[in-house]
Amino acid sequence: MVRTRWGLMTLLSVIACLVCLVPATAVAQPAIEWPDLTGVTLTVAAGAVGQELQLTKEAAAAFSELTGARVEVLETPDLATDRLGLYLQYLGARSPDIDVYQVDVIWPGILAEHAVDLFQYVPEEEIAQHFPATIANNTIDGRLVALPWFTDAGLLYYRADLLEKYGFSGPPATWEDLTEMARVIQEGERAAGNPSFWGFVWQGNRYEGLTCDALEWQVSFGGGTIIEPDGTISVNNPRTVEALKMARSWVGTISPPGVTTYAEEEARAIFQSGNAAFMRNWPYAYALAQAEDSPVRGKVGVAPLPSGGAGSAAALGGWSLMVSRYSRNQEAAAWLVRYLASYEEQKRRAIEGSFNPTIEALYDDADVLAASPFMGQLYDVFINAVPRPSAVAGERYNEVSTAYFTAVHQVLTGQVTAEQALTRLEAELRRIMR
Ligand code: GLC
Repeated sequence: MVRTRWGLMTLLSVIACLVCLVPATAVAQPAIEWPDLTGVTLTVAAGAVGQELQLTKEAAAAFSELTGARVEVLETPDLATDRLGLYLQYLGARSPDIDVYQVDVIWPGILAEHAVDLFQYVPEEEIAQHFPATIANNTIDGRLVALPWFTDAGLLYYRADLLEKYGFSGPPATWEDLTEMARVIQEGERAAGNPSFWGFVWQGNRYEGLTCDALEWQVSFGGGTIIEPDGTISVNNPRTVEALKMARSWVGTISPPGVTTYAEEEARAIFQSGNAAFMRNWPYAYALAQAEDSPVRGKVGVAPLPSGGAGSAAALGGWSLMVSRYSRNQEAAAWLVRYLASYEEQKRRAIEGSFNPTIEALYDDADVLAASPFMGQLYDVFINAVPRPSAVAGERYNEVSTAYFTAVHQVLTGQVTAEQALTRLEAELRRIMR
């Protein structure tokens, strides 16, 4: 039996457009004939940051409805570094227990050997809907290791109401401006009776998220991308030293001393409860900050991250969906991946969870832009986001990143100077990349 929910939806939207009931913004989507997968059980390993788990469970239920398959959603650790560790245990044991993995933009080189080639299962025109750079990122030795699900870029969240209150005309263009604005607002809010107020929260824990934040600082200072695409190990340079010194100076002044233990959700908790002027975070924080029950609803602005003199830099993040080679239902799993990464589903996630689509046409979709205006306003930030050196490091990327975030963390916690840390790091990266 074949079920065609989307066929019907496309037909209905065409009729609706014809009678002018809805704006004609939706791109007509090819009808997909979903197979009958009654009797099949699939397990997807998924993230649980913010609204992720709930959205994935809703999608799993919708896919079950459409195909009859049972879908179980396995919750995985929030920290990308820990999640990779868990995945490698399953994959290293060739476990058939997980069929689909939610994989980070930096992992295709690490996980390729465990992946089914999705070029076998996903029609060309569906693949062509995604940003070509993401498809290229996910293609290893000519095999499509994972289908893109959402993209990420580092953003600066700010309290528009407080900027106005303290007489600032807009978000900071430079880190120097941010440091000063954060100090003024923090002093003012504390004097006004909120001792828990901080200027700037971000991701300072010893994990992959710190690699993203620190890469943004150093690129914005002109300090390069740790390892350049041609393999040059560039991290030990005066501009990166300067960038790390700046970040170290925030700890305990405009940022809480505990920021060196924060991941995304700890930073968001402080910002969303109204206790920070600025936050560095990914797009998912937008829908939550603007939700009905959020204390900062209606007060939040989103801007590109400040420049350190060499321009604003946003780290490129994002997640894709991989079918495991050890799955006993690879074809059914590929259907699930197609469903999760589809236009309709990415649209729903963009509207409900402000997860940035990887399907280009969704950036012209009026419903998406109304729910998350920053996706249109900051389109250039997403297009120009800076990749971590995962392509050049390949399967060694996790070692490279671990060496980097460990060194940066030592600087932030005052164990070593930036100069010492970067000298040691350079030697370590040479050893890893040899
Ligand atoms: C976000 C990004 C991902 C990154 C992680 C670090 O989930 O999408 O690419 O590795 O944050 O914390």
